[in-house]
Amino acid sequence: MAEATASPNDLPDGLAACLAAGPSTLVLTGAGVSAESGIPTFREAQTGLWARFSPADLATPEAFADNPQRVWDWYRWRRGLIRDGGPNAAHRAVADLQAALADCRVVTQNVDGLHQAAGAAGVAELHGNLWRERCAGDCGFQREADAVGDGPPPECPDCGALLRPDVVWFGETLPMAALEAAERALAAADLVLVAGTSNLVYPAAAIPEQALAAGLDVVEINPDTTPLSTRAAHRLAGPASAWLPAIAAAARAA
Ligand code: OAD
Repeated sequence: MAEATASPNDLPDGLAACLAAGPSTLVLTGAGVSAESGIPTFREAQTGLWARFSPADLATPEAFADNPQRVWDWYRWRRGLIRDGGPNAAHRAVADLQAALADCRVVTQNVDGLHQAAGAAGVAELHGNLWRERCAGDCGFQREADAVGDGPPPECPDCGALLRPDVVWFGETLPMAALEAAERALAAADLVLVAGTSNLVYPAAAIPEQALAAGLDVVEINPDTTPLSTRAAHRLAGPASAWLPAIAAAARAA
C-alpha cells in the first residue's frame, strides 16, 4: 500500500473541476496520514495503538497521576517513532497544497508535529503536540522539547511539579485556539478534505458533519470506510500518500 500512487487524472471529474477553481480548502487529518511514517494509528484491529495499549492506562489525567513514568515512557516511545519516521509524501503534499492554493488551512488530530516538519503553516492542533511539555500543576510553565528524553518524568523548572506532554487526554477539553481556528477554516471553506481519520472521536468528527450540513464538498481519503464514507461527495479509497500528492498536483496545475 505504501507503494500506491495516483495521478491527477485519477481524480473524480467533480473534484478536479473544484480544484481547478482554486477552492478555499480545509484539510482535516488523523493518524492515517502519519501511518506511512511508521507511526501506528489508534484503532486498527491488530496494529492500532489502542489494540495494544489501553487509553485508560496511558491517555487520561488519572493515568498520569497514577503512573507518570509509564505515561512518559509511552510518549517518549512515540517521539522516537516520529523522529525516526519523519514526514511522508502525504505530509509534504499538504504543504504543497498550501503553496498552490490562496487559502488552505490544516486542522489535525495528530500530536506528532509532522505537518509542520513537512513545511505546513498555521496548523491547528486539536489534540495538542507531544513535542511540547507543560506543567501538570497550575503555574502555566510550557516548553518545546527537541529531544526524545529518558529517565524519570521531567520536573517543572518554575514550581517543581511534574511536567506532562501538552496533549489532550480523554476527559479533557480541546484547546480553544485550535477549535476556533477550525471553526474559521470551516466558515471559509469551499472544499473539505478529510484524510486518515476514523471519524469516531468528537469534537473533531463534527467538522465533516458540519461541512456536510453546510453543503460543502467533502472528500474522504482513507483505505477503509468510516461513518463519513457514504455521505462524502467523493471517497478516494487508498493511502493518503497516494491521493494527497495527486490533489496537490491538480491544484498546482490549475
Ligand atoms: P484512528 O486510528 O481512529 O483512525 C485512523 C484512520 O486512518 C483509519 O480510518 C484508517 O483506515 C486510516 N488509515 C490507515 N492508514 C492510512 C493511510 N495510509 N492513509 C489514509 N488513511 C489511513 O485515528 P484518528 O481518527 O486520528 O485521540 O483518531 C482520532 C483520535 O483518537 C486521536 O487523535 C486520538 C485517538 O484516541 C487522543 O489520543 C485524544
